[in-house]
Amino acid sequence: MSHRFTRDEFAIHLTQGIFMTNQFAHPDRNLALELVRSTEAAAIRAHPFIGRGDKNAADGAAVDAMRKFLGTVNFQGTIVIGEGEKDNAPMLFNGEVVGNGNGPECDIAVDPIDGTSLTAAGRGHAISMLAVSDRGSMLDASSVFYMEKLVANEDGHGVIDLSQSLTDNIKALAKAKKKPVSEIKVAILDRPRHADAIEEIRTAGAHTRLILDGDVAAGINAARADNRIDMCYGVGGSPEGVAVTCAIKALGGFIQGRLQWGSDEERERGLAAGLKFDYVYSADELVASDNTFFVATGVTDGELVRGVRPEGKWLRTESVIFRSRSGTVRRVNSDYLAERWLD
Ligand code: FBP
Repeated sequence: MSHRFTRDEFAIHLTQGIFMTNQFAHPDRNLALELVRSTEAAAIRAHPFIGRGDKNAADGAAVDAMRKFLGTVNFQGTIVIGEGEKDNAPMLFNGEVVGNGNGPECDIAVDPIDGTSLTAAGRGHAISMLAVSDRGSMLDASSVFYMEKLVANEDGHGVIDLSQSLTDNIKALAKAKKKPVSEIKVAILDRPRHADAIEEIRTAGAHTRLILDGDVAAGINAARADNRIDMCYGVGGSPEGVAVTCAIKALGGFIQGRLQWGSDEERERGLAAGLKFDYVYSADELVASDNTFFVATGVTDGELVRGVRPEGKWLRTESVIFRSRSGTVRRVNSDYLAERWLD
C-alpha cells in the first residue's frame, strides 16, 4: 500500500527536496529516446565526411553535434569516458557536465564516432555511440589507453576467463555452445600486436574475423544470440571497453577487461588514478550498475546497424538502443530532412 504523507512529513520532504531526488534519481526509460537524438545528429553531421580522408574533420562534426544535442537531454551527465585523447582528436572532455541540468545524475561514455578511420576511408562498421549508467558506476579508465577484452554471449559466463589461454577459452566456449571448435568465429582487431593471438585462434581450429577498427560493434555482435561472431578478443581502447559493457549488460552477455600500459609513465598515471594492472575486471567492476543504457547510430553500413543513407530529400538513420534494467533492445529508424540538417 502506498504511504500517505502527513502535512508535516510533506513539508519536510519538500524542504529536503526528497520528492525531486526520488522521482528523478535514476536514469529512466524515457532517457533512451532522448539520447538517441544525439547519436543520430552525430552520424548525420559526419555523413558528408565519409570517404573524404579526414578523420578529425569527421570526428569534429560528430563531436559538435553530439555536444549540442546532449545539452538538451533531461539529465545531469558527467562524462567519465570522453573521446579523442588517443590521438589529439576533437573531444568531449572527461569531467565535462552535459545535459540540461535537470533530471538524474548519470555517468556517460561518449564516442561520437567509433571508427573515425573507417569513416574517413569510406569503409563500413563505423558507429556513433554513447552509454549512460547511474552516477559513480563507470570505471574511470581514461588514464590508460588500452584494455585487453574478452566478450561472448551468455554462454561465456563461468566458462571463459581472461586468465585462461585463448585456446582454452575457445574450446570452453565451443563446448558451452554445443558446437565444434571449427565453428567458432573470433573477431579481433587486425593489428601487429595481435599476430600471436591470430595464429593461436587458427591453430586451435577456430576462425578469425579480422576487423580494421570498431571493436565496440564487434563486441556487441559477439554478445548477441545470432552466432555470426562467437567471441571478440584483443587489445583495443579502454574507453570502448567500459562503454560496450553497458550494452553487454542489456544482452546478458559476458565481458572482462584487463588494462594494458604502454609506458612506465602511463602505468604510474593509471596506478595514481586507482586503476589495477595484471587484474581482470568483471562486467560489474567495469560498470557497477544494472541500470545501463547504450545507444548507437550507424555512420557507415555495418552488421550492427546500417549507416546514414540519403533517400530523396531525406537522410535515414538506423539506431539501436539497449537498456539493461528492462532487458530491451530497440531499433529506431528516423528520417531527417537533409536541407535542415546539413549546411
Ligand atoms: P576511434 O575511431 O575512436 O579512433 O577508435 C577506433 C578503434 O578501432 C576502437 O574501436 C578500438 O577500441 C581502438 O580504435 C583500437 O585502437 P588502435 O587503433 O590504436 O589499435
